[in-house]
Amino acid sequence: MPIFEFKYGDDVKNEPAYLGSVLQVDTRRMMINAEDEHLQRASIGKLVTLKKGTADDWLIGMVDRIVRQIVTADTTEKDGEQKDTSKNDAFPISGNAVTVTLVGMVRWNAGEAGHEFTRSLLDMPDIGQDCFVLRGDSLKAFMGLLVKKGDTEQALEIGKYTLDLEATAYLDGDKFFQRHAALLGSTGSGKSWTVATILERAARLPSANLIVFDLHGEYRELSYADHLRIPGPDDLGTVATPELLYLPYWLMNCEELTAMFVESSEFTAHNQTLVFQDTVFAEKKKILEAAKKTEVLNSFTIDSPVPFDLGIVVAEIQRLNEEMVQGVRGMKQGKFFGQFSRFLARIAGKLRDRRYGFLFQAPEELHSYTAFHGVGKQLLDFTRKNGGIKVVDFSEVPSDVLPVMLGIVARLIYYLQFWMPDEKRHPVALVCDEAHIYLPRDKGNPNQQRAVDNFEKIAKEGRKYGVSLLIVSQRPSDVSDTILSQCNNVMALRLANSNDISAVRNMMPESMTSFIEMLPILDIGEALVVGDAVLLPSRIRINKPDEKPLSATIDFWTEWGRKDVSPDWVLAAENMRRQRRKTS
Ligand SMILES: Nc1ncnc2c1ncn2[C@@H]1O[C@H](COP(=O)(O)OP(=O)(O)OP(=O)(O)O)[C@@H](O)[C@H]1O
Ligand SMILES: [Mg+2]
Repeated sequence: MPIFEFKYGDDVKNEPAYLGSVLQVDTRRMMINAEDEHLQRASIGKLVTLKKGTADDWLIGMVDRIVRQIVTADTTEKDGEQKDTSKNDAFPISGNAVTVTLVGMVRWNAGEAGHEFTRSLLDMPDIGQDCFVLRGDSLKAFMGLLVKKGDTEQALEIGKYTLDLEATAYLDGDKFFQRHAALLGSTGSGKSWTVATILERAARLPSANLIVFDLHGEYRELSYADHLRIPGPDDLGTVATPELLYLPYWLMNCEELTAMFVESSEFTAHNQTLVFQDTVFAEKKKILEAAKKTEVLNSFTIDSPVPFDLGIVVAEIQRLNEEMVQGVRGMKQGKFFGQFSRFLARIAGKLRDRRYGFLFQAPEELHSYTAFHGVGKQLLDFTRKNGGIKVVDFSEVPSDVLPVMLGIVARLIYYLQFWMPDEKRHPVALVCDEAHIYLPRDKGNPNQQRAVDNFEKIAKEGRKYGVSLLIVSQRPSDVSDTILSQCNNVMALRLANSNDISAVRNMMPESMTSFIEMLPILDIGEALVVGDAVLLPSRIRINKPDEKPLSATIDFWTEWGRKDVSPDWVLAAENMRRQRRKTS
């Protein structure tokens, strides 16, 4: 039995799904000539089909442009005047045109005795062929083919197709994470809820491994996740607990350390860098010698994550800064005398700054040789209770420190995965919410630049080592385009700003760009999903998560209408001073 049944021949005009006949074909696009009474059956995003051959094979296309024309045939011919026909070249002079992008084929698979949808186009439409919209039973039959593939308890179910709200939409979880994904949309369009929907599905898998960078503490109450927090000033001096994520300074590589302490515009910057690096290297070497790590000693570099004592490094620089040496006529100033005063003051300032406490004031036990794999485990271990989804709360980290933190975390994760033997490697995905804040297109200061470089590396190489990015942003035009261009799957929620829309357009395959015109008219929680994780570029109504992120839009007018409100200014002021949002 054919999968779709339509009336043909003389009866075709009585067919309620009839749209029109093919007028022009251009690679993946075709133009259909539709009469006025049939034109309203087409709307942007609707699916159309036409039959191929004698087997039950059908081409499937998606409407991306509709033009209605009034036919005004100018019959008056004046002497010496040529009629201008050039303006209407693209469209038939005689009426309306529906432009359709071909997206794949439904084919009869004799082996499986069933129909299947494939994205490859093995045939072309014929000129003059009848074309039908998919609606009612035929739409259901088609959607059934999309759904069949993923329908299991473990599948990544994300919502329903807008075309047919009874058809459940699944993403191919492998493909979605394999080559990075982007979730983009204006503020309040439903990104955080979509993230929560995805996390909820992932949490059902026994060995899921996702790390969420949570910039606003929106995900801090998710019951199925493990929660990590960057220690704030008032955590310092306490013992290390599993929820506090310290990143001791020696985890930074040479570039990060230098970017942190050396002001490149200073005259003595070169000497500062040289002396600092030499001293750090010597200190690392001493520690390795004391621990008898002969193998590491032979191959370690200044970038190796080996603990060293920053206090000793500072003392050595201080010594050089004040050094007097024997000259021919008595004592004279050493080679570096006075060159490092500002450098030392800057280091002292950073060490004192309690906002940088997570780096420079970590508890003593985190300065041991074995502490490194402890930090790695805190981030990557998925075997502990709720360990599959790790939410790292950055909501109390000041914005200037944020890129440093995230850059280190990203680099550590990448290199731990990189050095893990293939057979032991377990894939991990990083969910980067509010990515425009720390992965900007225009890299700012050296610290910010380091962070972006680390993420760009993951975007380019991460696939091979099982590190994936899910970039979430309300300002795609502000996010590094090296990173965005590596995202193979795009979920675009409502977007109105034209710069952002063109950023999304640049990420889409050529044939899909007209689809973009739907972006400003999408509903909240509705997404266009394009990429290899969906069989067909689709408009999907994303499921609400069972556990909602704490991102509710505030109802100003309603709130202003309430009588019983009592903000606590004293508490807000105190929280600002202690950099913790406490409730009492
Ligand atoms: N799938 C959905 N179905 C219904 N309502 C939704 C859905 N997703 C989001 N909403 C509504 O939109 C509000 C904002 O959603 P959300 O916090 O996810 O936006 P956002 O895109 O993350 O915004 P921001 O960029 O400001 O973080 C939610 O509080 C909820 O009321
Ligand atoms: Mg959000």
